[in-house]
Amino acid sequence: MDFDAFERANWEGRAEAYERGFARLTAHTVEPLLNSAGVGPRTRLLDIGCGPGPVTAAALALGAQVTAVDADLDMVELVARRHPHAQVRVAALPELPFPDEAFDAVIGNFVVNHTGDPAAAAAELYRVLRPGGTIALTCWDYPAHKASGVFGEALRAAGVTPPADVPAEIPFSAHAGRRAFGRLLADAGFEGAAADSLAWAHRVDPDVWWEDVLAGTAMTGASISRQDPGVQAEIKAEYDRLVAGYADGAEVALPARALLAHATR
Ligand SMILES: C[S@@+](CC[C@H](N)C(=O)[O-])C[C@H]1O[C@@H](n2cnc3c(N)ncnc32)[C@H](O)[C@@H]1O
Repeated sequence: MDFDAFERANWEGRAEAYERGFARLTAHTVEPLLNSAGVGPRTRLLDIGCGPGPVTAAALALGAQVTAVDADLDMVELVARRHPHAQVRVAALPELPFPDEAFDAVIGNFVVNHTGDPAAAAAELYRVLRPGGTIALTCWDYPAHKASGVFGEALRAAGVTPPADVPAEIPFSAHAGRRAFGRLLADAGFEGAAADSLAWAHRVDPDVWWEDVLAGTAMTGASISRQDPGVQAEIKAEYDRLVAGYADGAEVALPARALLAHATR
């Protein structure tokens, strides 16, 4: 199965669980993205890979005209229910159903890292932005990002191999550094491309977080929840051991690290 096909198949049916759990982690970068892209009243904004719509919700509150797009139908339907004032579409990078120069700003909160061809995705986002328009994208900053990285660490510590259809390589990994992320935008033709680091602590009940991530994410969810119960228990034991190092009362304060790339067309 190729990377994009894997993504399509494994986001399906996760929208509500994602909104309940993982979206509380991604919410942290929404305001920096909106500020970086200069979103305000009447900005024609494309929220690409909108998920359940944290960027859309905040941009609508600022008075922006929001078009929310996701490759997953359940995510788009959820946004349509929550935010009747947004335009919503099912579409997948790197092919968007919009004319050239249709938007003043594009935001993608943890989506370009889910595409099979990030350079083609960046080129498509350039195409749909007007000259002078702004783009702001986030990705995770591993290995310092533990809030979701700890699941991969637990898998490896347990010596467990992900199911055979889970892609061994993530195409975005070549662009996942601070300089490389900025270069991805510069190579697509954007001006003034650079990436900033964001750091915060994700405070959560560790058992609830385990359930939320298994139910609500595509690759980590598929890699762990499709294992036999005994194997899952071994991975969970390693997870418990790893997160214990971040205990904060009854919760854990997991280091969360992201990169925010921004530029102008
Ligand atoms: C980690 S979630 C981020 C959701 C949301 N932006 C947020 O802030 O929480 C990634 C989202 O990207 C979507 N996605 C994955 N590949 C995509 C593609 N090629 N084009 C558009 N959306 C895609 C998934 O369906 C999922 O909703």
